[in-house]
Amino acid sequence: MTQTAHGVEFNQQLSATPKSAEERAAILANPGFGNYFTDHTAVVDYSVNEQGEGGWHTARVEAYGPISLDPSAAVLHYGQEIFEGLKAYRHADGSIWTFRPEANAARLNKSARRLALPELPEEYFLGAIRELVQADKEWVPAGEGEALYLRPFMIATEAFLGVRAAREVSFRVIASPAGNYFGGELKPVSIWISREYARAGRGGTGAAKCGGNYAASLIAQQEAEANGCKQVLFLDHFNDDAVEELGGMNVFFVMKDGSLVTPALSGTILEGVTRMSVMQVAKDMGREVTERKITLDEWRDGVASGEITEVFACGTAAVITPIGVLKDTTEFIGSADAAAGETTMAIREQLLGIQTGTAPDTHGWLTRLA
Ligand SMILES: Cc1ncc(COP(=O)(O)O)c(C=O)c1O
Repeated sequence: MTQTAHGVEFNQQLSATPKSAEERAAILANPGFGNYFTDHTAVVDYSVNEQGEGGWHTARVEAYGPISLDPSAAVLHYGQEIFEGLKAYRHADGSIWTFRPEANAARLNKSARRLALPELPEEYFLGAIRELVQADKEWVPAGEGEALYLRPFMIATEAFLGVRAAREVSFRVIASPAGNYFGGELKPVSIWISREYARAGRGGTGAAKCGGNYAASLIAQQEAEANGCKQVLFLDHFNDDAVEELGGMNVFFVMKDGSLVTPALSGTILEGVTRMSVMQVAKDMGREVTERKITLDEWRDGVASGEITEVFACGTAAVITPIGVLKDTTEFIGSADAAAGETTMAIREQLLGIQTGTAPDTHGWLTRLA
């Protein structure tokens, strides 16, 4: 069967062995994050010849399962890979929606340009998401704080060991039911300062969402966890220890006057869809929002003087998470028994309300998937 989504035909080769309703219910009872995957995957392949003739083709939805790759596939050697992350939310009437998918499609293509991968027309991105969610709609959880996490990604599949941009590429979307990212109640988290490691450098790939950035961040994340912290903060060591971002989230500061500050995009920070949405939601609440350089010194001194009243992190997976403590062996900023701040919680509630259909979507951020 073929289906047309956003003007692109997706061939449907549905799984012969989907999970039973009982198996699915057992998974949905406690999905955690990134542990379980739905019955299907959406795929679009790309190939061009030496003259660059060809393009995207063979859009399909098929059973979720291992990918067959040649051992010389470029992605396995040179890390030519990019990905995205967004969620599908079940609203009270049972309908399923996603949040600002065009922004993820645009960021995927920004990442593609940086990693010398082909850009994917938006209709394929949106079509793949819609087709996958329609095939797996029973997997979209309905509980509070739950959603179906969607993971689009693009890999260089060409079997060739020369170092050049691959001519064969595959774009795929997989989906994973997700509960609360940090588990349990919304408590302020402790963050570890990475002194030794950077996740990105000037001219590098920090503004792209590519696997290599995350590979580079894992050692710092291990250090954070070994010190009882949930995430790591990366600083620009060559620019007065300017605050960049966490391993997987952007950072906001709430100032005494009610305004918000977030690090300016410098080429080494990933431009989060949540970050841009938080800025708009805060402006809608009448707050001033500034993107500028903010250093570790300003964080420390601002918390001590009361100039900074709240700090929070934001990203698709964890939405908005208050930061209670920032520390390393020489610093301890904040307080271990801090409660979530009022502004943090108000912005979180408003954003979640829009995503889950309980607050009006005044900016047209939602797209219906099923
Ligand atoms: C490094 C990094 N920064 C920021 C973010 C937040 O981006 P978004 O709000 O689009 O999820 C993410 C998550 O995708 C990330 O991996």
